Amino acid sequence: MEKYIETLLLLLVLFSLATAIDRSQFPPDFLFGTATASYQIEGGYLDGNKGLSNWDVFSHIPGKIEDGSNGDIADDHYHRYKSDIDLMHSLEVNSYRFSISWSRILPRGRFGEVNSKGISFYNELIDYLLLKGIQPFVTLCHYDIPQELEDRYGAWLNSQIQEDFGYYADICFKEFGEKVKYWSTFNEPAVLVNKGYRLGIYPPGRCSEPYGHCSSGDSNTEPFIAAHNVILSHATAVDIYRKKYQIRQGGWIGIVASTTWFEPYEDTPMDAMAAARALAFEVGWFLDPIIYGSYPPDMIQLLGSVLPTFSGSDKRKLRSSLDFIGVNHYSSLYPKDCLFSSCYLGPFVSNGSVLGLGYKNGVPIGPKTGMPNLFVTPNGTEKIVLYVKERYKNKPMFLTENGYGQNSSDNLLTKDILNDEVRVEFLKSYLTSLSNAIRKGADVRGYFIWSLLDNFEWVHGYSERFGLYYVDYLTQKRTPKQSAKWYKKFLIEKKSNE
Ligand SMILES: *[C@@H]1O[C@H](CO)[C@@H](O)[C@H](O)[C@H]1NC(C)=O
Ligand SMILES: *[C@@H]1O[C@H](CO)[C@@H](O)[C@H](O)[C@H]1NC(C)=O
Ligand SMILES: *[C@@H]1O[C@H](CO)[C@@H](O)[C@H](O)[C@H]1NC(C)=O
Repeated sequence: MEKYIETLLLLLVLFSLATAIDRSQFPPDFLFGTATASYQIEGGYLDGNKGLSNWDVFSHIPGKIEDGSNGDIADDHYHRYKSDIDLMHSLEVNSYRFSISWSRILPRGRFGEVNSKGISFYNELIDYLLLKGIQPFVTLCHYDIPQELEDRYGAWLNSQIQEDFGYYADICFKEFGEKVKYWSTFNEPAVLVNKGYRLGIYPPGRCSEPYGHCSSGDSNTEPFIAAHNVILSHATAVDIYRKKYQIRQGGWIGIVASTTWFEPYEDTPMDAMAAARALAFEVGWFLDPIIYGSYPPDMIQLLGSVLPTFSGSDKRKLRSSLDFIGVNHYSSLYPKDCLFSSCYLGPFVSNGSVLGLGYKNGVPIGPKTGMPNLFVTPNGTEKIVLYVKERYKNKPMFLTENGYGQNSSDNLLTKDILNDEVRVEFLKSYLTSLSNAIRKGADVRGYFIWSLLDNFEWVHGYSERFGLYYVDYLTQKRTPKQSAKWYKKFLIEKKSNE
């Protein structure tokens, strides 16, 4: 009963926020698509000579994934990519954001052969997308890397990985670059390093107290070393693309950042500063070096010598090393200052001495979703997009992920999962907010719903469903939810106006 009332209230809030939004409020050449990631959908984890990835190894360690599952099969997309592309085609999307599994292309990184079966798989996938009029929007690294790189030298903690990433990116540009016009180097590097090296809940599972209980690691230093190597790996790949491929292939390259909008907990200068710090520690951490050649002043001031430094040649290579910014956005949080005020967990200097809270006086910042710490806060989209616009001089942007996660372990009936009005209203209200930002001058070029299919939601396993299509994991049958039908309607209505 309580759940029922909660849902009703959520619908009421959402209906009141969502004014009529339609396709004509976005530019004619706007990209509309769905997004996925290799490890979350492909399965076929040993097929076609693929090597083991860090996620293959990690998800097989008992206790790491909440429902004890793994991505061995996932959505079996490796074997079903054609019918999945047919689903996208039926939605009338014009683009698809997906990631390449590094260990399918290079099972052992640069220490082994290029896997021709992996190359063929992605060539066939890309060819079929193009045949269906769908632009590939490709991420090179969405968390999964060859396990060999972890075992040999500690992956992101070692600067050797810059060479490995460049080697891998070069192969992808050479093999697929004639057909791919949008490349992202990394997906959400802040999540990669925070969860892998601060909280220890993603591979390689490293951390120290009080952030978590891991057998090794140092939460106060390692995230910054790993991030530094990610940033320089990005620069290495962009340098290769610019020098060898971009002029001939005519594509764009960028990076995809995770973004939370931080709405000060209280209307005080301290919480306003905390909000600015939280944004610097999530967004500026990666985008400032890649656009301006140095870390955000807020980070330098707080972290001092813990923060690695860029050499003169690093800075030259880094500056303006992107053509677009990918923004993944789901929710807002309240930042609470812990630098000047004391917080119960002690100062978490390594993420800006800010607590990111979902509640104020027991009231959530927006209706809850199925994901911890993600709330329905559509107004934050306009705010974060305008923040990125201001901070980075209106670089072209894509909203590379946005979507609604449903926790399906609460004994929900399939029929209730399919009837996802809440997701429809969520998408409408966030698109409305995005269109406000565009009207205010933000140069946004596309929008991707996370996700095409229900899939393996990292540590939450299969209990979290984000898909426009419901997946029955026993039969692999895909069924469109209300939201899939709504997206199609939204996309074709504009066509008839043209
Ligand atoms: C920083 O990390 C701590 C510990 O994990 C967490 O409680 C806090 O909310 C984080 N701050 C932000 C802004 O995410
Ligand atoms: C969101 O924005 C709308 C319109 O700009 C406004 O009416 C509403 O109060 C805002 N909601 C919140 C929670 O800030
Ligand atoms: C989903 O719901 C189950 C059952 O209520 C709960 O145990 C689990 O923690 C929830 N998952 C998430 C990610 O919140």
